[in-house]
Amino acid sequence: MQKPRNSYKDSSFADFYDLIIERLGRGRWDSEAVRLLAKKFGDPILEIGCGTGLKLLPLAKTGYITVGLDNSSEMLRVFQEKLETYDSRVKKRVCTILGEMTNPLVNQKHFRLIILPGSQFLHLCSSEERLSCLQSIYQMLDDNGVVYIANSNLAEKPVYDWVDQAGKAEGNWILQARRALNNGAYQEDFRITSRIDTAIEYLFCWRLYPIEDIQMRSLLDEANLQCITTPSDLPQRLNSNIYLCQKAT
Ligand SMILES: C[S@@+](CC[C@H](N)C(=O)[O-])C[C@H]1O[C@@H](n2cnc3c(N)ncnc32)[C@H](O)[C@@H]1O
Repeated sequence: MQKPRNSYKDSSFADFYDLIIERLGRGRWDSEAVRLLAKKFGDPILEIGCGTGLKLLPLAKTGYITVGLDNSSEMLRVFQEKLETYDSRVKKRVCTILGEMTNPLVNQKHFRLIILPGSQFLHLCSSEERLSCLQSIYQMLDDNGVVYIANSNLAEKPVYDWVDQAGKAEGNWILQARRALNNGAYQEDFRITSRIDTAIEYLFCWRLYPIEDIQMRSLLDEANLQCITTPSDLPQRLNSNIYLCQKAT
């Protein structure tokens, strides 16, 4: 299998990340789901693959103690820049850690809620990496805590030509996207062009590795994590497999 090719460690990509998510119209459902889960299960909350803090910052603002782990110092830089604009009480509720999903060196246990809501689990490309991540989650979870993982089932058909992603925003930047299946991986490419000077152009991408539901359940089982019924008021997410798990009894 080809090595992952993601732009997360690129500083320009990190600066454009929130714009890309907003224009693609992704993330709103996840934000609503994690807000509801935080209300039900409480804190401390850990997000693995927290990126620029799109999920954690609103939770910290609401009053929850949050920890974000990511292996991109550039995504965490943007997270910290955003955090700087919040008041000191919010700042005290947020901790970011540079680290790997497969071996998260988080000096804290007993998380009431661990979240991987934005398909970040699909960046892992082998069963060994996935199991290592799930076993680490088990170690960090409180006995009464839950882990929430949302894996896109990547049902969207490949679109090989560039398509404008207008979103709501006008702004100075044009975003175009295309997606392709490439050796079993699902790659999304992004082209961002300046409206003011069309010679200014950025190319980025991320790559996701699909996991069959049956395979995911077997890995959860192996990691001693047991799926529980999702709350009836959890918003339904189209084209995704949702796993809400606690430690197996
Ligand atoms: C799709 S983004 C999600 C960001 C954020 N959770 C959100 O909802 O906007 C995936 C994030 O996972 C991080 N990531 C990818 N592979 C990782 C790994 N092996 N260990 C830690 N973080 C990783 C990336 O740097 C990126 O910030």
